Amino acid sequence: MSTDKDRVNTVTITDNQTGNSIELDIIEPTQGDRIIDIQSLHNKLGLFTYDPGFTVTASCWSKITYLDGEKGELQYRGYPIEQLVEESSFIETAFLLLCGHLPSQSELDEFSVEITKDSLLQEEIKRFFSGFHSNAHPMAIMVGVVGALSAFYHKYLDIHDPINRKDAAKLLIAKMPTIAAWSYRYANGLPFVYPRHDYTYVENFLHMMFDLPTDKYIVDPLIAQALEVIMISHADHEQNASTSTVRLASSSEANPFASVAAGIASLWGPAHGGANEAVIRMLQDMMSSEKSIESYIERAKDKSDSFRLMGFGHRIYKNYDPRAKIIRKLCHRIGSESESALSVENKKLLDMALKLEGMALADEYFIKRKLYPNVDFYSGIIMLSIGIPLNMFTVIFAMARTVGWVSQWNEMMGDDSSKISRPRQCYLGATKRDYIPMDER
Ligand code: SDX
Repeated sequence: MSTDKDRVNTVTITDNQTGNSIELDIIEPTQGDRIIDIQSLHNKLGLFTYDPGFTVTASCWSKITYLDGEKGELQYRGYPIEQLVEESSFIETAFLLLCGHLPSQSELDEFSVEITKDSLLQEEIKRFFSGFHSNAHPMAIMVGVVGALSAFYHKYLDIHDPINRKDAAKLLIAKMPTIAAWSYRYANGLPFVYPRHDYTYVENFLHMMFDLPTDKYIVDPLIAQALEVIMISHADHEQNASTSTVRLASSSEANPFASVAAGIASLWGPAHGGANEAVIRMLQDMMSSEKSIESYIERAKDKSDSFRLMGFGHRIYKNYDPRAKIIRKLCHRIGSESESALSVENKKLLDMALKLEGMALADEYFIKRKLYPNVDFYSGIIMLSIGIPLNMFTVIFAMARTVGWVSQWNEMMGDDSSKISRPRQCYLGATKRDYIPMDER
């Protein structure tokens, strides 16, 4: 048995049924709660752990993003999100997340040129879009087109080569704005617009979204800056559902395009990235119905009702989501500074959101459960004010989160000890029994 001085870094587990005890190591992370290494638990005690939804389970190690749920803090490679949205650009943040350090000017210039150079899509991919029904949801188009990229970009499939992995990561970062914008253009019967090499990453996306052969789109710097903030705020968020999906899918050595397509599919759910669209639909419903806000709050508290207050609550944040604070401040700034000020409709949405937030945060149910606005609560109002339609909100989220997905994928595939993810289960089905011939049933 270890001496006291060693105990500080182990935990003892005793199976009270057998009396057997084991000591398990405790891993000391650079930030965050200490973690029990349970890898030897089954070998030593014959026991599994049970944690549906991975509420207290670390699925991996990572050096990319850290969140403190109690304090409401978010850091990318140690840099606070509040500083990055003020000082950085999305493409610089992408470099930081993927490469692990803030780039020198020459590194940033080179990275930007590489990403812009790869923003074009193979012309044959255009036919892919036309395979969709004209009223297809842009997320459905995005899942399909991204998943098919491996059919067009064969030379990026050697996932064990670090250079090739970086190239595949940069290719996905480069192509997402074009795929996102073209998903919108196709769903709205508009001609595709090609990226330009003299625009920034965000300006290019706005250009491809809104430029018309009949009416040149001039990028409004404030709108571009607002989208930069939205994109930086959504770039990564440690092991959320969609990132965990990308990690799990690629743990079988599936190619990065297929793995990111799986992440896009997971993000689409209203409990995750689909919440931004659901928040606006909820606010619009509140505005158009005679029912009071109080009645919606009561429904959200009623367990027999599946309705939840969209944009509220979070698995990790038990304090205000720092991104929600940033985006709420941006709503006010757009409302006061931009000549394309919040439309009357959007101003009403913002007022409704602020009122709903105030009432919920004063309600015992939300206070007791530490339910605060999350990143999705205000982001939709900004996107509407930029002219982004409702069904494109999660597409924007996916475009930004691609940086996090490929950075986490690259980190995992670079770890020689990583293995295929294969969770166990708690089996509650029938015990072993013999087959019953049809005439005896
Ligand atoms: C994102 O993981 C990430 O990092 C995600 C994300 C990212 O950047 O990748 O941050 C992006 O997905 C943000 C979340 C967007 N989703 C929504 O806004 C949908 C509404 N929120 C809920 O569905 C919920 O809060 C979740 C899904 C976000 C979190 O779910 P949890 O951690 O499983 O919450 P829970 O079910 O354990 O909630 C604890 C309690 C429960 O009540 P009790 O059983 O204790 O009585 O709080 C209640 C829940 O019923 N609750 C809510 C609520 N959220 C939780 N009640 C009403 N309205 C809500 N929104």
